[in-house]
Amino acid sequence: MESNRGEMVSLKGKDIVTIGDLSEEEILTVLDMARTMIPIARGQKKSRALEGKVLASLFFEPSTRTRLSFETAMHRLGGSVITMSGTEGTSLIKGETLSDTIRMADVYSDVIALRHPREGAARLSAGFARNPVINGGDGAGQHPTQTLLDLFTIREELGDISKQHVTIVGDLKYGRTTHSLSLALARLGASTSLVAPDIIQMPKHIVADLRSMGADIHVTSDLKGEVERSDVIYMTRIQKERFLEEEEYRKVAGAYRLDLSLLESAKKRMIIMHPLPRVDEISPELDNTPHAKYFVQAFNGVPVRMAILKLVMGV
Ligand code: CP
Repeated sequence: MESNRGEMVSLKGKDIVTIGDLSEEEILTVLDMARTMIPIARGQKKSRALEGKVLASLFFEPSTRTRLSFETAMHRLGGSVITMSGTEGTSLIKGETLSDTIRMADVYSDVIALRHPREGAARLSAGFARNPVINGGDGAGQHPTQTLLDLFTIREELGDISKQHVTIVGDLKYGRTTHSLSLALARLGASTSLVAPDIIQMPKHIVADLRSMGADIHVTSDLKGEVERSDVIYMTRIQKERFLEEEEYRKVAGAYRLDLSLLESAKKRMIIMHPLPRVDEISPELDNTPHAKYFVQAFNGVPVRMAILKLVMGV
């Protein structure tokens, strides 16, 4: 059934603001199509599938991977990109509202990828655009396309997602990637451990949602105790910029650091993931071990975003 799932499910015209905007079938459709995009993402095969289409890439908060992989995805499929990176040099500096900025980008393009520091900005923007709006991260809200590439990486590396135990570590309070990912894993039947110091544990409403979905979750601050049973250890950066008080940040900075000694009890096939950027939570000594998949994961952003762009534009 995998090969014809895309023919049955249409995402044409769809906004992707949270992972909840996609059904399980739609998530699997993206993952199936992403696999077929890999040779194009690597430049081994040519495609003009999105020729004549324009992506508005609006990033009002810093980004390396999300912006560049969206733009690479568009270029590799023969499409074009218009971009705003920050507010410098734009009419936002003159006081133009986000809604008017979105209305303008919408009439110049066929799809908008948006990153914004304010939670809820992507949902608001989707209300002002006729074309699809894809959330590339809204403050401490969600990051659904990161989740799609995370799921893709887990499935490509380990197989059936429902059979995996995923340990998510670090800044679960402000980490939008962890919010989207934990919800998606619960829907797809994976079990999870949520590892964080108490003051940056997963927001209570998300834990409640996970429990109401019947998810198998374990909430703890002890990373060492979770290593042995993990199929995936998903590290995240503690995001200094999201703390209101630097003092609070200092209490948890450096709380977790994955290194060779901590992995003594790890399964041979266990993979380490990270949405990146990392600061010091993964020792570089792990980069060349078979466990390290975070750079593969970052590459996977290209085929996954190619699939998303094709599907929401109905091409
Ligand atoms: N993973 C991720 O969102 O990376 P960037 O902040 O560099 O886009």
